[in-house]
Amino acid sequence: MNLYKDKQIRKGSKFPQNTIRGILLPKIKIRILLRGEHNMCGVVGYIGEKQVAPILIEGLSKLEYRGYDSAGVAILDGTEIKVRKYKGRMSILEEHLKEENIKGTLGIGHTRWATHGEPSDRNSHPHTNCSGSIALIHNGIIENYMKLKEWLIEINGDHFKSETDSEVIAHLIDYFYEGDLLDAVYKAIDKMEGAYAIGVICKDEPDKIIAVRKDSPLIVGIGENENFIASDIPALLKYTRNMYLIENDEVVLLTKDGIKIFNELRQIVKREVLKVTWDAQAAEKEGYTHFMMKEINEQPKGVHDTLHRRLDKEGNIVLDGIKITKEDLEKINKIYIVACGTAYHAGLVGKYAIEKFAKIPVEIDIASEFRYRDPFIDENTLFIAVSQSGETLDTLAALREAKRKGARILSIVNVVGSSVSRESDDVFYTWAGPEIAVASTKAYTTQLVSMYLVALHMAVTKGMLTDVQYKTYMEELKAIPEKIKKILGNTEKIQQLADAQFNNENVFYIGRGVDVAVAYEGSLKLKEISYIHSEAIAAGELKHGTIALVEQDRLIVALATQDKLYDKMLSNIQEVRARGAYVIAVAKEGNKEIEKVADKVIYIPDTLDELTPILSVIPLQIFSYYIAVARGCDVDKPKNLAKSVTVE
Ligand code: F6R
Repeated sequence: MNLYKDKQIRKGSKFPQNTIRGILLPKIKIRILLRGEHNMCGVVGYIGEKQVAPILIEGLSKLEYRGYDSAGVAILDGTEIKVRKYKGRMSILEEHLKEENIKGTLGIGHTRWATHGEPSDRNSHPHTNCSGSIALIHNGIIENYMKLKEWLIEINGDHFKSETDSEVIAHLIDYFYEGDLLDAVYKAIDKMEGAYAIGVICKDEPDKIIAVRKDSPLIVGIGENENFIASDIPALLKYTRNMYLIENDEVVLLTKDGIKIFNELRQIVKREVLKVTWDAQAAEKEGYTHFMMKEINEQPKGVHDTLHRRLDKEGNIVLDGIKITKEDLEKINKIYIVACGTAYHAGLVGKYAIEKFAKIPVEIDIASEFRYRDPFIDENTLFIAVSQSGETLDTLAALREAKRKGARILSIVNVVGSSVSRESDDVFYTWAGPEIAVASTKAYTTQLVSMYLVALHMAVTKGMLTDVQYKTYMEELKAIPEKIKKILGNTEKIQQLADAQFNNENVFYIGRGVDVAVAYEGSLKLKEISYIHSEAIAAGELKHGTIALVEQDRLIVALATQDKLYDKMLSNIQEVRARGAYVIAVAKEGNKEIEKVADKVIYIPDTLDELTPILSVIPLQIFSYYIAVARGCDVDKPKNLAKSVTVE
């Protein structure tokens, strides 16, 4: 039933056009994302011969890290599409589904991170058309949804059940539906502006799922007599390792025994099958209470793998994914490193390493700032994007801006086949494995190793390091995984400190040189999972303002790992202690004087000053973890956050 058609004819209402003062604009490509909007939901879908409910639940449980305000499914039970969706964690949905035992072999599911409209049952996905014959899940943002919604209301009255932008898509597909779901979806997306990964099912076409990707991640899982869609690989690993990565503007038609991928022009496109080689176990907790602790403990392996996969038999760096020659490097007169959050903090260390080893000036910027400040870029610029997910919209937008202006793009990315990697000229994959906890840990340390390798590779290519210097750095890098293990084998003291300090509401992290970068990361780790206000500051800056906040028992975490800045840090620690602060210092083994000035000292194994960040961050991660546990916080899923930030 198409409610809209008749009304449109009756009222003569025209499809909303983009106009400015009455002048018709072409279908806009202006990509304005709503301020402050984020959408990082997870989508999953199944068509086959098995019961779909447990498959959707399994998939959603692996995607919950993307958003966890609410979850829902739509299952075709033979006669009708049954939609069940609930505010709150996925376990609520799971319980309801177990009780009800809805039968069906076609379905879609969604886990939501609220943007348009509060978390509530009715704002949860799936959304349907008026009659409930079409159900839809959506990750992304429909920028022109208000205009579309007003228009749909004008021709048919207000049948909207939610405040979401996504519901508009279901009504729009309904508007175009004339017995061919694929055609209706094509017509609907032609009117939609924004970012979307969507999955659609229709009661009248029970043999298919239609999925579309535009700027929001979407993969297809290939099975036998069954096929899947999902936002991310872990959702499907239990069922298949054969995947298609769907590109922007592609539409997929899935039946139980076939997958067709179409481009914008409705032509069939060929896609190579991606065989996922990493272990499904990598996305499980394996006995740890939280993914975060599991991932902290995976750092020796992540660092080892990231390093050793880039070394030849002689131990020289071979960067397969990077084709930058000596001539290319000589032309590069400026490097920008651009990223967000933890990845940005890894970039800060990268700047330090590249300038120090390769002697090339590096600017570092937060992606959301970079893209709006009109930075000077030309064809002699190298742009380095750092991203775990490879889907962070700000990073991607900054990358595109740099590319448009002629820069060469090198990316350091964890997720193979992600948007950032696909749009880069050169890619350096971190080998962290899937990172599930929202707070990034192993992605950070593998990004650091990658940064060092890129910096050393540039230095060697440019002839900036002697053989001895190069070998010294490489030997030290190779020793890092064992040193991380040593820290991880001795965490009791850190846990005791966390147990004693968890009641603080304000914490400062201070350091000098490359320690400042680690201070930023330590501070972010604490605030995001424990909700304690914390701030990081260069120790030398304290007396220019912030020291006014230092008072009796104020907790200060002081990084003092840099040999050449050690004495200066001791003075800074004394300054804050004199004002009553309680100082936990992080220092290299053997530096005993610090025990005289700090209240407590956490030691890290000795290493070269340049490489300390990979070690000094570990106790800070563990400290934050235990503080969050002591405060009863949901460590893996902190409030208001989600793992990939796929819109601005
Ligand atoms: C913090 C954290 C975030 C991410 C940031 C960038 O623990 O995980 O700050 O680092 O959102 O994400 P990616 O690296 O996926 O681009």
